[in-house]
Amino acid sequence: MPKKAAPAYTPEPPLDCPLCPRLVGFLDEQRDKHPDWFNAPVPSFGDEEAKLLIVGLAPGLQGANRTGRPFTGDYAGDLLYPTLLSFGWAEGTFKADPNDGLKLKGAMITNAVRCVPPQNKPTGAETKTCRGFLEARLGALPKLKAILALGRIAHDSTLPALGLKRTSFTFGHNAAHDLGNGITLFDSYHCSRYNVNTRRLTEEMFHDVFRSIAAHLGR
Ligand code: URA
Repeated sequence: MPKKAAPAYTPEPPLDCPLCPRLVGFLDEQRDKHPDWFNAPVPSFGDEEAKLLIVGLAPGLQGANRTGRPFTGDYAGDLLYPTLLSFGWAEGTFKADPNDGLKLKGAMITNAVRCVPPQNKPTGAETKTCRGFLEARLGALPKLKAILALGRIAHDSTLPALGLKRTSFTFGHNAAHDLGNGITLFDSYHCSRYNVNTRRLTEEMFHDVFRSIAAHLGR
């Protein structure tokens, strides 16, 4: 049997990306139920000149998967976007709508997995398959100085996307890891509804991470 050609990864997956059969099937189901939703791999959002890349987990079903913009319409975005506005990483008004005119300044948001997974849980194989897009995304940001991983899966996917070993950098809330390539990786607990409601992550704790990033970048 001829060997399957490796996929050609680009910073953004094609809207009809076929790589993860379970996720393709789930998107097909959503398209039948909600033909007016985005229902495709959600592209990164922000500034191509970004110094800061924020890496989330995956689009929420009724949020980013519906609207087509990361963290938009998701509970998690109600903490993330106002935080970006108060720390000067965004301008405009956030209305949880991709047409709200909000612009990111020096920052970009992406996800470790670009398609909505059932129960919000991508498999290890799906995360690994989608990592090629993260790798290409990272490689297309010439000004990148800092990465913020929202949650352990984002942290664990970002390191190998940069050719680094996970065992060298342990995830911890508000930890800063010098990756030795001019980039510092910051970690935060994910700003999910669950983490906020259980107070694993408070707004103050989330802002502390952004204060660490600002101090590191001399902003
Ligand atoms: N929405 C996203 O786009 N990513 C997340 O990680 C959570 C919600």
